Amino acid sequence: MDKKFYITTPIYYPSDNLHIGHAYCTVAADAMARYKRLQGFDVMFLTGTDEHGQKIERKAAEAGVTPKEYVDKIVAGVKDLWKLMEISNDRFIRTTDDYHEKAVADIFTKLYEKGDIYKSEYEGWYCSPCESFWTELQLKDGKCPDCGRPVEKAKEESYFFRLSKYQDRLVKLYEENPDFISPPSRMNEMLNNFIRPGLEDLCVSRTSIKWGIQVPFDPKHVVYVWLDALTNYITALGYGSEDDSAFRKYWPADVHLVGKEIVRFHTIIWPAILMALDLPLPKKVFGHGWLLMNGGKMSKSKGNVVDPVVLVKRYGVDAIRYFLLREVPFGSDGTFSNEALISRINSDLANDLGNLVSRTVSMGEKYFGGSIVGEMRAEPIDDELRALAAEVVDSYEKNMEEMLFSAALSDIWRLLGRGNKYIDETMPWVLAKEEENLPRLRAVLYNLCEILRVVAILIQPVMDKTANEIFIQLGIYENEQFTSYGSARTFGVCGGFNVNKTINLFPRIDLEKELAELEALAPAPEQPKEEQPEELLPEITIDDFAKVDLRVAQILDVEEVKKSDKLLKLTVQVGDETRTVVSGIKPWYNKDKLLGRKVVLVANLKPAKLRGIESQGMILAADNGPDDVRVLMLDGDVESGSKVR
Ligand code: ME8
Ligand code: MG
Repeated sequence: MDKKFYITTPIYYPSDNLHIGHAYCTVAADAMARYKRLQGFDVMFLTGTDEHGQKIERKAAEAGVTPKEYVDKIVAGVKDLWKLMEISNDRFIRTTDDYHEKAVADIFTKLYEKGDIYKSEYEGWYCSPCESFWTELQLKDGKCPDCGRPVEKAKEESYFFRLSKYQDRLVKLYEENPDFISPPSRMNEMLNNFIRPGLEDLCVSRTSIKWGIQVPFDPKHVVYVWLDALTNYITALGYGSEDDSAFRKYWPADVHLVGKEIVRFHTIIWPAILMALDLPLPKKVFGHGWLLMNGGKMSKSKGNVVDPVVLVKRYGVDAIRYFLLREVPFGSDGTFSNEALISRINSDLANDLGNLVSRTVSMGEKYFGGSIVGEMRAEPIDDELRALAAEVVDSYEKNMEEMLFSAALSDIWRLLGRGNKYIDETMPWVLAKEEENLPRLRAVLYNLCEILRVVAILIQPVMDKTANEIFIQLGIYENEQFTSYGSARTFGVCGGFNVNKTINLFPRIDLEKELAELEALAPAPEQPKEEQPEELLPEITIDDFAKVDLRVAQILDVEEVKKSDKLLKLTVQVGDETRTVVSGIKPWYNKDKLLGRKVVLVANLKPAKLRGIESQGMILAADNGPDDVRVLMLDGDVESGSKVR
């Protein structure tokens, strides 16, 4: 039997400190790695950092340090974070590690010699202030997606990877391995949106970037992003180095865990690169959803990044790990909120789990001085409990194998729920009143200890500390026979317990008070860009300007847009025409101030839908600092529809 298991996370960009969304993916991979280790697999669990490229180059320049100095500092923080979150990775790769750089350079040369990489010209949309190329699809409203400034068509000499050549083999790969992409819906997305419409060759070098791995035979080029990043999964194991024993042992990967937005790179480009290198393909790519906050993906500029260090310090690592894996079905998007976190801690951890442990252990101490020798005395209710324990282990395993962590945890919580109910049904405090009922009381407590033993074994991949604490309180800590993974299936084998109460596992949290404190701790959003004096845009010609058709418009009516704090719906007259324009000026203007006024309209702007209303143009306004806007109004009487130039 193949008892090795190789699992990876994406390698993270160390351009900013990591947030709870990054921790989400890493915790999931860690839970899987720990689960496989419990099952006796020889596990290789890899994570790391993706350190080259323009973004880092720019951030470093802003900070006045070299790119390497910049990333060194952040990577040290990343490693600390993983330690804090009890991530049990076996290796940590940095794409600036010398073995990686060398292997990537060799791979590049090899593919070039083979004809799978060739030199050509890259044509794309170029943003000169950002020095970045973008594809048509990446542009946002036709502008640079990073800075929002206009872009221009430009060309650059580049090397290309012959991705198009692998189209048929990729289709075949998917057909023959329906489990290659999880969840399965993402496979159709890849086929229909990317592969079937036709794959284009991939640009794999840049001359406009300095911070990267040089192309050995053409050093004005550096290797561009994905070829550098994706190959980490094999170079980390020593592929292309003197000692490639780990590569030979662990490759192919059993699973690459990635966020949904990079599934495409892992299921199209990565297999194609491996095909070109004549290497076996990974068995599975699992695309998980995003952890959202206030409806959006976390980002520093939105000010909605959640700092995992703060949360772990307040609630402990196990509570955070539990929440991340329990709250959202893995694969779907989910929402992070402080309220949801605290509610889960209170209901699942303090109530269901913490209470069962403390009630069981306290009663064991009270009635039997802690010594609960094995006694089954099976009554129907006990058999039912044992049957449920067995069923839960089966279901848990099935779910863990599919990386359905939330479902696996709910399985465990079914058993906890049953345990709490078992106490209510058997009423140990009543049994304790009659001498003759003591054997039954002991059996009841024994069964409760057995439930907790099974629960502790099963929660280990997610909450290792808590599991150990339960073993300690049951008096079976480091007793291999009763704590091994296999012993979860043998309810009733444990000879006896020596319970002793130590700590309260999860104290209840006062929700209101806690929310107020967290609110006070929340970081302010990053200063909006508008506050800095805005740099002038690149020069344009009079012809460029002439493309903008500016007209005088008169405001005929003003309505509020429902459920929007910002938007007003304006009805304007432009010559003979009446138009609807939606404008984000509600905080500063009302109907009184606008009705009848003459304003300047960008009349040939492509219509856009805002809150379901089509806006046919845009009225001009000036930003007066970050929190004020002034609409341009004409003095004197000007005919509506007149041209403004
Ligand atoms: O993409 N919720 O790096 P990265 C869930 N270097 N997952 C999130 C998240 C959120 N709010 N925010 C980020 C890269 N992630 C490349 C990868 S792999 C060869 C190269 C996840 O730091 C995201 O989905 O931008 C991705 O899987 C991972 O963090 C790394 O993102
Ligand atoms: Mg990303």
